[in-house]
Amino acid sequence: MNGSLAPAPEVAEIRPAARLRGELRLPGDKSVSHRSLILAALAKGESAIGGAGDGADVRSTAGIVEALGATVERVAGNGRTVDYRIVSPGADGLTAPGHPLDCGNSGTSLRLMAGALAGLPLTATLDGDDSLRRRPVARIIGPLRAMGASVHGRDGDSLPPLTVVGRSPLAAIDYTTPVPSAQVKSAILLAGLRATGVTTIRESVATRDHTERMLRARGVTVSGESGPGGGVVVTMHGGQTVRPIRERVPGDVSAAAFWLVAAAIHPDAQLTLLGVGVNPTRRAILDLLQRMGADLDERTDADGAGDANDIGEPVADITVRSSTLHGIDVSPADVAAAIDEIPILCLAAALAAGTTTIRGASELRHKESDRIAGIAAGLTALGATVDVDRDDLRIRGGARLTGTATDSLDDHRLAMTFAIAGLVASGRTTIARPGSAAISYPGFFDDLERVRA
Ligand code: S3P
Repeated sequence: MNGSLAPAPEVAEIRPAARLRGELRLPGDKSVSHRSLILAALAKGESAIGGAGDGADVRSTAGIVEALGATVERVAGNGRTVDYRIVSPGADGLTAPGHPLDCGNSGTSLRLMAGALAGLPLTATLDGDDSLRRRPVARIIGPLRAMGASVHGRDGDSLPPLTVVGRSPLAAIDYTTPVPSAQVKSAILLAGLRATGVTTIRESVATRDHTERMLRARGVTVSGESGPGGGVVVTMHGGQTVRPIRERVPGDVSAAAFWLVAAAIHPDAQLTLLGVGVNPTRRAILDLLQRMGADLDERTDADGAGDANDIGEPVADITVRSSTLHGIDVSPADVAAAIDEIPILCLAAALAAGTTTIRGASELRHKESDRIAGIAAGLTALGATVDVDRDDLRIRGGARLTGTATDSLDDHRLAMTFAIAGLVASGRTTIARPGSAAISYPGFFDDLERVRA
């Protein structure tokens, strides 16, 4: 593998934009890209992944797949996306490296790889940066141990680094997830491939279903049925083989969210986002913005896969224009469905008419930073009124934002939220540690300059 990211400045400075215009193609979806790489490692033979996200998180997963003994070739790239060719010996041929696997800043790499490794006859340690070392892992240790793997973390098994001593075969479990987390569901499914019996995962709030769709595209039978009260029950027989495929990764809707809000809150804007993944379990941000009154147009005419296999991920071109937004109530289920988009939604709420309430957002405290604290600090500094009551937020709309110093806390989604705020705030907005944007969206600041007409 090869390819390096350019060093970022310590502080970015954003001035208000007179107009926003243009068409953008986003990095490949981060969630799908991680899964493509991991599934390519588990599938014996050659896989081709077109348009994967080329942010630092996905690169971490690519590095891990390579460290486990697959050949990972960067065939083509444009700074935002990369095409990979992976040749893997398959799950049984992967080998443990003599050093910890570096997940960098990526919780998805850590949790999904832990599941994938749990059923392999090898021992590996997953580690990462200071932020990752603060992310909770008890949520995956419990079910993976129940399946028979030996998994240990730091501080009473609550934090990374995580050492996984795999066992083959594992034993299937019937597991009800205590927090809505696609990472937990996916870790159990990846382990379940190597388990004897039927693995069942019950979610009280349905989370993103990329793993299920992408396993099916690779010949694995996985069923998903509606569970009580908006939940889902996923079942899968162990021992099924993952086939290598060619696929095309859709544009990242979580990256699109920044432009959707930018155009909706700006008085003179029209932006079109091309080839965005609109999987029903990921599109909540579109529906929440429409509930707020956003002027969005969606054209869904193809799966965007070209000559690659259809991986069951719908794609659309989305046009968004200046909008008159109003506040809404965001429920705990909405939070789970739009977990990565809540920071930028908070910016929309600050500029909407009326108040927005966001309830049950505790999971935001366990992301790359404490996003409840980070978003409240940044938006308040910019002139918004944000009340935090434990894990609920109340954002008074109608703010007039004034440029000031903000801090991304090294969290990509906060860096991009404050940069978008800078497009509509008066004066000069600065963002400390803006380079974190490249975790999920390399080229974000270039795109920001391009759309500023
Ligand atoms: C992800 C799931 C979410 C999300 C993360 C990516 C995934 O985490 O925040 O950015 O790819 O499965 P949780 O499922 O832990 O909430």
